[in-house]
Amino acid sequence: MSCTGARAPFTVAIDGPAAAGKGTIARALAARFGLAHLDTGLLYRAVGAIGGDPVAAARALGPADLARGDLRSLAAGQAASRGAAIPEVRAALADFQRRFARQPGGAVLDGRDIGTVICPEAEVKLFITASPEVRATRRWRELPAGTPFETVLAEVRERDARDMGRTDAPLRPALDALILDTSTLAIDEAVARALEVVRARLGAG
Ligand code: CDP
Repeated sequence: MSCTGARAPFTVAIDGPAAAGKGTIARALAARFGLAHLDTGLLYRAVGAIGGDPVAAARALGPADLARGDLRSLAAGQAASRGAAIPEVRAALADFQRRFARQPGGAVLDGRDIGTVICPEAEVKLFITASPEVRATRRWRELPAGTPFETVLAEVRERDARDMGRTDAPLRPALDALILDTSTLAIDEAVARALEVVRARLGAG
């Protein structure tokens, strides 16, 4: 199914591995251009956090599930990526994301497959990446004190491998995505580049 809508929507698709900076860039773009924002990882995290049958959880997902306080833990990230490898889970979450992407007024979505599967027609596609060590360091700083760095690095590597290796919607850049490597780029520089890309595309539209 394509995400093409009738009212000339404007979609920014942001994909990339864990803790690459997608969320920061997505929030900045949404605020600057008045676009709605969806962190699609939260959908998969909520499916994992609900527990039980992931397909049933994905089909029954509601707003209260996305407001849970336990979605940001390492365990929730692992549960999310296990459920995310199940095609029926992805299918259950796809229509909501596509409608969100093509809403009037425009939207920014960040995830793993937004530019490749959910909205291949997105007007702007960004793929945000960084080395596993840099990403694990960022994630480690956000976690409660006492979490060993090696645990966080192992978690990042394990999730990368599962997200890139799955058959359905594996993590990879769309052919026409702009790749931003934030390993050596300060996050505000990455945000500035992303703002410029969107501004140029809006101006050209
Ligand atoms: O915040 P972080 O980058 O660590 O991860 P997330 O975006 O919250 O995503 C958690 C997990 O959900 C990922 O490791 C993926 O397995 C899965 N996911 C996905 O498969 N497709 C998406 N569009 C978003 C997340």
